[in-house]
Amino acid sequence: MNDAIRPQPGILEIALYVSGESKLAGHDDVLKLSSNENPYGPSPRAKAAFAEAAGNLHRYPSTDHVALRRALGEIHGLDPDRIICGVGSDEVLQFVTQSYAGPGDEVITTEHGFSMYPILAHAAGAVPVEVAERERRVDVDAILAAVTARTRIVFIANPANPTGTMVAEDDLRRLARDLPGAVILVLDGAYAEFAEGFDGGVSLVEEFPNVVMTRTFSKIHGLGGLRIGWGYARREIIDVLNRVRQPFNLSEAQMAAAEAAVRDVEYTRFCATENARWRDFLRQALVQMGVGCDESFANFVLARFASAAEADAVDRALKEAGILVRKVAGYKLPECLRITVGDEAACRRVLGVIAAFKGIR
Ligand SMILES: Cc1ncc(COP(=O)(O)O)c(C=O)c1O
Repeated sequence: MNDAIRPQPGILEIALYVSGESKLAGHDDVLKLSSNENPYGPSPRAKAAFAEAAGNLHRYPSTDHVALRRALGEIHGLDPDRIICGVGSDEVLQFVTQSYAGPGDEVITTEHGFSMYPILAHAAGAVPVEVAERERRVDVDAILAAVTARTRIVFIANPANPTGTMVAEDDLRRLARDLPGAVILVLDGAYAEFAEGFDGGVSLVEEFPNVVMTRTFSKIHGLGGLRIGWGYARREIIDVLNRVRQPFNLSEAQMAAAEAAVRDVEYTRFCATENARWRDFLRQALVQMGVGCDESFANFVLARFASAAEADAVDRALKEAGILVRKVAGYKLPECLRITVGDEAACRRVLGVIAAFKGIR
């Protein structure tokens, strides 16, 4: 071992990201409800656009993503020049952290916040500062109290993963207003489309110069396997982020599928409507069985059992039945299981196993 070769400060602090399980020994037809994927898959138009792109694999993709940015601008009513696209929204979050935080800086995350935030902070050499939540809800006052002269970024997912809860828009506005002007507030809208009537943070980006919104094609658009996300902010910030972005970060196949997906507004609406219907059904049934469950604004619910031991036992029972959900002890929620909202059959199958576990007919 050559002791002279050392990674940059912070890199060895990174705890590797743990993704939802996807395989179960002894089961061929696993029901995967562990990664918040869209049970209906992507729009057929997105699949067709992806297949068509196969004819041009020898060509480099466009570096400016202009067609996709225009489509996003049209559908969401945004200025395409203030949009940046990335390899999943993870990459856009990385651009922000790499560009605005460095050694000695602090990055605020919250108690049950998405685990990529501390990873990205460490990767930039910055220190992640974890702020307590209040009953699984992000606490704006606690965040403001944690701000120091070293704070550079605050990360909030709204709706949040893995809790599914939301911060009210007025509280977000207060946070954006009261943060020092040099602190960037990242509003991660990976699940924004599942929260009816929510704009994902667009209005706050328009109102405040230090707010960045990120969005993804992995959830409502069912394109998690393709890795496409985007961000929206004031022009000066997008200009900075584009400087650290690799010119060919997205392939034509990714962009073509994403453009077709975002333009298929009817299909997007269908996915949101079905999700809301089965999410509420799942939650109500869990509550009736005595399982705690906050109102969720995303495409999953967080089931709270009596203890970590009970959550583990339910997880085992689900696995025996060929169902994968997400254990969230790593998110400081050991008594909980995060269950992606599937289609009707998937929801009924999960509920059947939990009911049997609890001895309910
Ligand atoms: C809160 C949150 N943000 C961002 C992401 C990253 O999504 P992607 O990189 O697939 O766009 C996820 C994925 O699970 C998420 O839950």
